[in-house]
Amino acid sequence: MKEIIAIEGGHKLSGTVEISGAKNATVALIPAVVLADGPVNIYGVPNISDVDALKVLLEELNCTVFRDGDTIKIDPSNLQNVPLVSPAVDKLRASYYLMGSLLGKCKEVRMRMPGGCYLGPRPIDLHIKGFEALGAKVSYEDDCIVIKAEKLVGTKIYLDFASVGATINIILAAVKATGKTVIENVAKEPEIIDVCNLLTKMGANIRGAGTDTITIEGVEKLQGCNHEIIPDRIEAGTFLIIAAAAGERVVVQNVIPQHLESLISKLKEMGVVMEIIGDSIIVNGASEMVSCDVRTQVYPGFATDLQQPLTTLMTQAKGVSSVTENIYPERFGHCEQLANMGAHIEVFDGACKVYGPTKLTGTRVYATDLRCGAALIVAALISEGVSEIANVYHIDRGYENIDNKLIALGARISRRIVEN
Ligand code: EPZ
Repeated sequence: MKEIIAIEGGHKLSGTVEISGAKNATVALIPAVVLADGPVNIYGVPNISDVDALKVLLEELNCTVFRDGDTIKIDPSNLQNVPLVSPAVDKLRASYYLMGSLLGKCKEVRMRMPGGCYLGPRPIDLHIKGFEALGAKVSYEDDCIVIKAEKLVGTKIYLDFASVGATINIILAAVKATGKTVIENVAKEPEIIDVCNLLTKMGANIRGAGTDTITIEGVEKLQGCNHEIIPDRIEAGTFLIIAAAAGERVVVQNVIPQHLESLISKLKEMGVVMEIIGDSIIVNGASEMVSCDVRTQVYPGFATDLQQPLTTLMTQAKGVSSVTENIYPERFGHCEQLANMGAHIEVFDGACKVYGPTKLTGTRVYATDLRCGAALIVAALISEGVSEIANVYHIDRGYENIDNKLIALGARISRRIVEN
């Protein structure tokens, strides 16, 4: 038995959709809380399965975790630093942020390696390089990573690649280290700034978030605080693409437009008509879309997480579009699924070409990862007939309540349990 999402295509969407809190900030903010000596309240938490898994892990660490709607109240005062070996570790990649925060708080962490979407190799060598630079020793015992430090001492760290995860994890390990840590060539994603804002409210001394270099002066103690999560720029981008593909007039609300500049400029290039009013973006669809070329880059370049749903939109644009994937060269699982719906896509090493416009027809398709799931939802909404999307657990990891948000816009979408 498995759950599928069934979507009847061809219905124009109109109305307003409210964007939730950012998944990729949330999954770092929650592990960061263990660094505090008192309770932390986080508001705007999306109701996604990654948060469920992190709640399990924090409760294993004897933190009290209370969720009330989009608020999560966490008290890490009685933290017990036990090895993290439960299946919850495998549920998401971001469980690895507990490496940085437990190392930073307790000078020791023992845990299984993280899980998450398969997008090709996803090493954590840069995280380890940062921990070792701060004075930690890393070893592997009974399929756990063990990271220990007599003392964490601030130092200068250069990241060979502006890795989001490594940037955040090293910050988490360094905020209570002795002395000054300078991390160069860091990632500048908005989620990193959000984590640094939380840590600063807790009493950390961090400068430069959002620039190439972050400087941290270690502090003795971090206390509890309150924090509101930034809106999810990837969910917002996904809905802009949905609106461009299937919308008549869709208002995407609770957005920070600056976080979406690269996507907005690409959509305009394709002929999509949009209006930006405060924290809303109104998409008036597009009469005829033209092809475009996208190269994924670290922020503020075009987000790798949006190239998959945008590929679906490219199938409806006149001409030959291309995607060059510079972050995850193997992130093309969606192309085969889209081809099964009628798309004409050629996949090369780290790139693809999309020929359009092509008519898409509903059929059974399989989400290979979270953003592939998003790409297939866009495709199903514009296909002729009914599509069935399997492996919906991928989608539920990162998109809160996506069915109801789409139904409110006029989509014909339902979930079914099927034999296979
Ligand atoms: C974060 O993953 C996001 N996940 C990803 O979103 C996103 O695609 C990615 O950043 C890039 O923006 C979360 O925030 C939970 P990276 P992360 O470290 O931190 C290589 C989604 O759909 N690398 O910036 O794992 C790595 O292999 C997910 O929401 C190393 O080589 O990304 C990849 O090629 C998918 N060594 C590149 O860097 C390392 O130590 C980018 O990885 C770390 C990374």
